[in-house]
Amino acid sequence: MSPRRHNIPAEPNQFVGRSRDLDELSRLVHETRLLTLSGIGGIGKTRCALQLATRVVEHFPDGVWLVELAKLTRPDLVLHEVVGTLGLREEGGRPLLDSLRDFLYGKRLLLVLDNCEHLVQPCAELAESLLAACPELRVVATSREPLKIPGELVWRVPPLAVPLPGQPIEQAESVELFLHRARAAGSGLALTADNAPDIERLCRDLDGLPLALELAAARTCVLSPGQIAQRIGDRFRLLTTASRTTPARQRTLQATIDWSHALLSPAEQVLFRRLSAFSGPFTLDLAELVCADGDLPAFQVLDRLALLVEKSLVLFDQGDACYRLLESTRQFAADRLEQAGESATMADRLLHGLAALATRHGHDMWLTDDRAWADRAAARDLLLRLADNARQAMTWAAASGQIAHGLRLACAYMPAWMITGSFAEGRGWLETFLERSEGEPAELVGDALVCHSALVFEQHDSAAAERSVARGLELCRAAGSPVLLGFALDISAMQAVFRGELAPARARAQEALEVIGPGGSGYLEAGARMILASVSGLEGHRREALAGGEGAIECYLQTGQLYGAARAGLELGRLGDALGELDFARRQLDRAISLAGEAGSQPLLALALGLLGLILARQDQGDDATDRIRECVRLSQSMGQHLPVASALMALAVLAEEQEDLEPAVRLWAAAKALEQRLGLFTFTSASPEPLLARARARLGDGLVSQWWAMGSAMSEEEAVRYGLEGVRPARVAKPAGGATTVLTAREREIVALIRRGMSNKAIAEELFISPATAARHVANILTKLNFSSRSQVAAWGAELHIGLHSPGHAGREPRS
Ligand SMILES: Nc1ncnc2c1ncn2[C@@H]1O[C@H](COP(=O)(O)OP(=O)(O)OP(=O)(O)O)[C@@H](O)[C@H]1O
Ligand SMILES: [Mg+2]
Repeated sequence: MSPRRHNIPAEPNQFVGRSRDLDELSRLVHETRLLTLSGIGGIGKTRCALQLATRVVEHFPDGVWLVELAKLTRPDLVLHEVVGTLGLREEGGRPLLDSLRDFLYGKRLLLVLDNCEHLVQPCAELAESLLAACPELRVVATSREPLKIPGELVWRVPPLAVPLPGQPIEQAESVELFLHRARAAGSGLALTADNAPDIERLCRDLDGLPLALELAAARTCVLSPGQIAQRIGDRFRLLTTASRTTPARQRTLQATIDWSHALLSPAEQVLFRRLSAFSGPFTLDLAELVCADGDLPAFQVLDRLALLVEKSLVLFDQGDACYRLLESTRQFAADRLEQAGESATMADRLLHGLAALATRHGHDMWLTDDRAWADRAAARDLLLRLADNARQAMTWAAASGQIAHGLRLACAYMPAWMITGSFAEGRGWLETFLERSEGEPAELVGDALVCHSALVFEQHDSAAAERSVARGLELCRAAGSPVLLGFALDISAMQAVFRGELAPARARAQEALEVIGPGGSGYLEAGARMILASVSGLEGHRREALAGGEGAIECYLQTGQLYGAARAGLELGRLGDALGELDFARRQLDRAISLAGEAGSQPLLALALGLLGLILARQDQGDDATDRIRECVRLSQSMGQHLPVASALMALAVLAEEQEDLEPAVRLWAAAKALEQRLGLFTFTSASPEPLLARARARLGDGLVSQWWAMGSAMSEEEAVRYGLEGVRPARVAKPAGGATTVLTAREREIVALIRRGMSNKAIAEELFISPATAARHVANILTKLNFSSRSQVAAWGAELHIGLHSPGHAGREPRS
């Protein structure tokens, strides 16, 4: 399966004209690192950027990625959005920006940051920092204002061409767009000698502005082009007196939107302005929940929405059954909402409505027992689709001091953050509300603390996790809800296992089982049983542990919890490995892999593949192991994850050792351990390099083995992977400090000089009056010290440092040995 190379959405309708613009832009993308398409709202910046992106996909082997920013309300979300779009997953507590820079380093990739204008500052900072750190990266931004960072090339998007005097009018792009959209609206409008002058005038009056042309065309079923031109002209005159400072084209757009709006029925106008409360796509359910009231009954929302779609004021995306507004139209609607004095009410209704909806779907994902996995996955997908609205609602909750609602919504989103690995973002929201939660209901604060604990535990911040869960447990006990208490006990017990506090872990998991009771929550019951299995294993009760773990997985599967089952399968694989039961571990990991695939959890999949590769390697099943290792590496790299790669490197080391290739075995183990050190994260496995190191030292001596270890530790992750999988020795990355003098002996430098002249070992031996065996030994030492695999690499390196026979330190001849 080849990875996806872009996320550019399919075109919603025919793109018109701009072929010369696009030729120029395609050229500029290669000549500049930051290209900003700027211009007023509705001129076609976004659409142009999408066309450009599609055109140049082939030139960016690492892909072209569109990041939509219009929907974001807070500056700190820009980074999360980029990371999420690229499919990167947080790993441990690493700062997201570091992971992002790492991931982009060396990649030939194009980022398209769309609609930056309301977040110019954070966009500029992020773009500047990424461009500085990642030499092959290019950025295209669309923004009503430039980002103003060094190296930015600002390209003003022109309007679509209007008919020129003497030119056949159908050749003008604006006319073409107008006629296209009129036909799409079902008006059957065709260009005739009679209507040509009106259409020409209309397109000119609309300044060739695509959005204005679309809105006008949507009305051609009921009005002739002449009537439309007349009426928009009236609006325009009305607006002109009102706002003389706005640029003409912008006034044209305002007049057009204003005109389309004035033609809506009162009920449509009410719905239209209320829709501006949403950020990003929204569903019909949510629109009904938020926008309906006494003036607008819920059952009418669908009909009204359909009419707004017909009039091009709202877009409908068939694929995910979501609606959205273009940014210029949304802003217009938001102004109307403000004028109607409904902004705060709608923001409240979004917060309250979404908190209720998300809580219900959050329960469907985790707690309600009689759900098939497909239903749970649908609930998850819906929460993810509405995530921008949740961000908007939480921003409002914080701004308006509605802490309880904020807490409720954040708790409802916790499963979604957990599954997508958005730990930092979830943590941030929960902390925003927890900091101000004094006096809020114990049940809510307790739940939020436990959610917080679970998320920060994933970031390996165990101190913070322990603090939150301890207080959370207390509050959940006081609140008296069995489900909440069961959840708190599970999380607390799981963390105790990791700290090696087995007795408290067992006690809490047992209490959880009692509290949940039979027929309580299958998910929480399975969690508690898995914890008890781990405790048994760590206490040395092998049979009890393995059987208990299988029972827990069964329990997950019976309640349709594939994600839980996959996670437990990985746990049980690790437990089997720790207990030396490799066959058992292999079976568990095999199952965990298929479950993780079905549940759509790539991080779990990568971890399980890496560990399975390692176990297969230890069981001498080289081919199967290599398949898993390759898949693990590919998947991990696509998500910017590193820990699974460490286990893949260990597996490659074990395979090398089985071939008696001690040098790569040592170097790959060293690379794996160094990678773990850099991450501050560790693979759970009973495999260890110690037996190999002992054997190698006994056979080859400590010096050489230590040197291999040092070289392996110095390899980057990519180098180690290439070395392990393709046998490619890394080229020297950095020159040794102090140049050749400190690395090589005088004799070795002399030999480098002779290698530069292309001399064989025999010729070198003759030249230096030494035996060919001694010359060969010197050459081998040089290769090892410099970490090279061929004489030509040595020659190139020597040339670079000007190592010649008369360079400083040139030694005299030594007696023939
Ligand atoms: N060349 C074109 N062919 C067809 N449709 C176009 C073209 N250019 C723009 N449009 C349409 O015009 C509308 C406005 O375009 P777009 O959203 O790209 O504007 P924008 O400059 O990005 O506006 P904003 O600043 O509000 O984001 C959209 O519906 C878009 O599909
Ligand atoms: Mg745009």
